[in-house]
Amino acid sequence: MKIDVLTLFPAMFAGPLDESIIKRARESGLLDLQIHNLRDYAHDRHRTVDDRPFGGGPGMLLKPEPIFEAVEHLTSGSTRIILLSPSGRTFTQAIAGELAESKELLLISGHYEGFDERVREQLADDELSIGDYVLTNGALPAMVIIDAVTRLLPGVLGDEESTQEESFSHGLLEYPQYTRPADFRGMKVPDVLLSGDHAEIARWRGEQARLRTSERRPDLL
Ligand SMILES: C[S@@+](CC[C@H](N)C(=O)[O-])C[C@H]1O[C@@H](n2cnc3c(N)ncnc32)[C@H](O)[C@@H]1O
Repeated sequence: MKIDVLTLFPAMFAGPLDESIIKRARESGLLDLQIHNLRDYAHDRHRTVDDRPFGGGPGMLLKPEPIFEAVEHLTSGSTRIILLSPSGRTFTQAIAGELAESKELLLISGHYEGFDERVREQLADDELSIGDYVLTNGALPAMVIIDAVTRLLPGVLGDEESTQEESFSHGLLEYPQYTRPADFRGMKVPDVLLSGDHAEIARWRGEQARLRTSERRPDLL
């Protein structure tokens, strides 16, 4: 998969995407990730990317011209263009799965008060929010989406890191898990997990997942 990111803060991406599983995915060619500086598409002396909103109001908006030029330069007909915005639909594991089917994504990260509306109307195929809160810019949301999507790409995770049984994969939160020791400071692992009875273990896990979901996230049921 190819993912391009358009941002005013390319340096924010160094580090989080250079470690562990995402690093491996990049090195093995499963993920081709390119970070682009929006200012490279602004051509005046000050490389201006923002301006005041018509009609007044606080803050600055990202101007359409550099974003349109960048999109025209960076995308092909098959690129899915995603605007990061608190007004977008909320990013979920199901949306991560949908995006993982794409060949090319362009994530457009905002700053200041956000985007000129024509960017939304004309360029974006989708608008995604990572939650009901406002961040200073879209770099962290972009990284969250890249991480969640990349780990779903075939070949990125090993068997021991499978995505099949984890939270949200069946619309439920994950069941409780334990590792050695079986008795830690008097806190014992449930007997069923030590029983070797795989059918009973699967039944217990399903029940625990439903219980946990109904207690913590009834909205998922
Ligand atoms: C300060 S925010 C702009 C907020 C905007 N004025 C509003 O009320 O929706 C600047 C940029 O950060 C990004 N951003 C902030 N919070 C976000 C969130 N929860 N999800 C996705 N992107 C977010 C977006 O790209 C946004 O354009």
